[in-house]
Amino acid sequence: MKYEQLTAAIGAELLNVTLGDAARDEALFAEIKALLLAHRVLFLRDQDISRADHVAFAERFGRLEDHPVAGSHPDHPGLVQIYKSPDQPIDRYENAWHADATWRDAPPMGCVLRCVETPAVGGDTMWANMVLAYEKLPDPVKAQIEGLRARHSIEASFGAKLPVEKRLALKAQFPDAEHPVVRIHPETGEKVLFVNAFATHFTNFHTPERVRYGQDYAPGAAQLLHYLISQAAIPEYQVRWRWRKNSVAIWDNRSTQHYAVMDYAPCHRKMERAGIIGDVPF
Ligand code: SIN
Repeated sequence: MKYEQLTAAIGAELLNVTLGDAARDEALFAEIKALLLAHRVLFLRDQDISRADHVAFAERFGRLEDHPVAGSHPDHPGLVQIYKSPDQPIDRYENAWHADATWRDAPPMGCVLRCVETPAVGGDTMWANMVLAYEKLPDPVKAQIEGLRARHSIEASFGAKLPVEKRLALKAQFPDAEHPVVRIHPETGEKVLFVNAFATHFTNFHTPERVRYGQDYAPGAAQLLHYLISQAAIPEYQVRWRWRKNSVAIWDNRSTQHYAVMDYAPCHRKMERAGIIGDVPF
């Protein structure tokens, strides 16, 4: 196996390897995992592998989980089908910078996404390095956000389009999670900026040390959250991947965010994603 780094900030393409082999070869899998920790997102072309091999490879990282809104393949639990078609109303849920499912108490540690069908043009996905995003924050901002925590909500994201009863039922099943704004990567010890489109508000901002008078309390918190969420959009932290059929991306969901670019005309775009259960951020 060889690899090529794709940008100075994030991403490497693996060459001369198939994930079916990696699913059965411990040493090869260990090499891929080390590269994932170093480069945060790995890409491969021409992975004409079975769904069983897709699942088997992803399961080497840990157990998979389904998504409460997007369905999984009927024969392969944990393999979420992210299918767009011309007869569907355009669904823009991925079209925001996010780490997957941070509305869970324990968001996924990573994902393995394979392209089954891609638009003739468009439909790329972008990733951002959120360790770098934290590192590059001005020191006063780093000091301001130390110890801050934020609420992440499925209700305000996937739930928003549902009738109120269904939205509340979804929220009852997945109560909003609370996470540190800066998490520690459990394997590398790096600090990660960990707020994204699922974050609705800080839960411990309004302390006497942080605020002076009523009028500047809420705008102060909201503006800071917006500023932090916007960091993923900085091009110097990013890589952009052009999909082809059987291309694969493997990402570390703890240290990255991603954005599926919704720039294609109504057509089929079919992706299958194995999401690997993660741990509770600290
Ligand atoms: C996702 O948001 O996990 C899917 C990304 C994509 O469809 O490119």
